[in-house]
Amino acid sequence: MIGRLAPPWDKLLLDARLVTLRDDLGAWGAIEDAALAWKNGLLAYAGPRADLPGEPAALAARIESADNRWITPGLVDCHTHLVFAGDRAPEFERRLQGASYEQIAREGGGIVSTVRATRAASREQLLAAALPRARALRADGVTTLEIKSGYGLDFDNERKMLQVARDVGESLGLTVRTTYLAAHALPPEFAGRADDYITEVCAWLPRLHAEGLVDAVDAFCEGIGFSPAQTRRVFEAARALGLPVKLHADQLSDLGGAALAAEFGGLSADHIEYTGEDAVRAMAAAGTVAVLLPGAFHVLRETKLPPIAALREQAVPMAVATDLNPGTSPLQSLRLAMSLACTHFRLTPEEALRGATVNAALALGLHDRGRLLPGQRADFVQWNIAHPAELAYWLGGDLVHAVHIAGRRVGA
Ligand code: NIG
Ligand code: FE
Repeated sequence: MIGRLAPPWDKLLLDARLVTLRDDLGAWGAIEDAALAWKNGLLAYAGPRADLPGEPAALAARIESADNRWITPGLVDCHTHLVFAGDRAPEFERRLQGASYEQIAREGGGIVSTVRATRAASREQLLAAALPRARALRADGVTTLEIKSGYGLDFDNERKMLQVARDVGESLGLTVRTTYLAAHALPPEFAGRADDYITEVCAWLPRLHAEGLVDAVDAFCEGIGFSPAQTRRVFEAARALGLPVKLHADQLSDLGGAALAAEFGGLSADHIEYTGEDAVRAMAAAGTVAVLLPGAFHVLRETKLPPIAALREQAVPMAVATDLNPGTSPLQSLRLAMSLACTHFRLTPEEALRGATVNAALALGLHDRGRLLPGQRADFVQWNIAHPAELAYWLGGDLVHAVHIAGRRVGA
């Protein structure tokens, strides 16, 4: 590793201001008058310019000034459903007139209406629909992205969604982590036979995993989704393959979802508005990340707040994600999710940024990104801001100067 990162470096940025998110430094892990260098796609130096191990000209083939811009790790969106066809704007209008998300779901709308559109779309059409959303995330600083299946709900269509998720990553140079979420809703052909459907979900998993399409397994554990007992069956199927689990847990009611995720050593429990303190302790013991999804909270006009104080007290890492989906969170900016997390959940801007970088990476089981440290991937963003808190302060706007993924500038 040392040899791989020793000078000469591929490139050296001077006049930088770094948000390293290192814990051994002060707020933000900030370093002013700093330098950043990378080699072979990995960070080779991230520290004070004064501590560079020699004259810049001797250290790197290419040297540039960062013009005093703030640089953060690339953002990580650890919970999205961005592969889907159609939209749910009419459902949005109905909800504004008073219909609830659950009511619409029980009438055969909601997730199942997106399933109809997604099944009807070809792989090419799905990719064409997904790419602009992924581009929008990347343009606002995202360099790693999780994408769930869950709008196919049969073998071929779940497979198609996971293939498109991989296609998105290849097309845009993003790291995409795929999550199998066939236990998202009951498809109409299984009406009244949820247990039989779960049997199928468990049977499809090894086949999709064998094709390299599955990085993690998720379920929607909820009154309008699947019961804890059904979720447990899905988790056992994942465990048999050595696949990590995560869970849509305790979003609309407390079914003990977060505790169940912790019991299986889950990477994350997501939403968790109704999660109680005992479950938070179980998450802390299991190392399960709390993924906060303020976009869905906002769009559904929820009022029950996730247990933020308990999460802080138990030192459960908090992540923030867009939950980008056509129903509850048509949110195409992770920075906007950070802003919503501050306003609705009272996260500090620094917590929100940690939530969209290092803690989000943990929620995907990734330890090689999320901080500016030598040896981490050279995924980073240069921003046109005067202070890091602006990342969570502006609602929208064009703040990105440049995005680098594995040391290469993208989308410029
Ligand atoms: O994370 N809660 C379930 N899944 C999504 C919503 C998906 C949809 O409504 O299409 C969520 O909020
Ligand atoms: Fe979700």
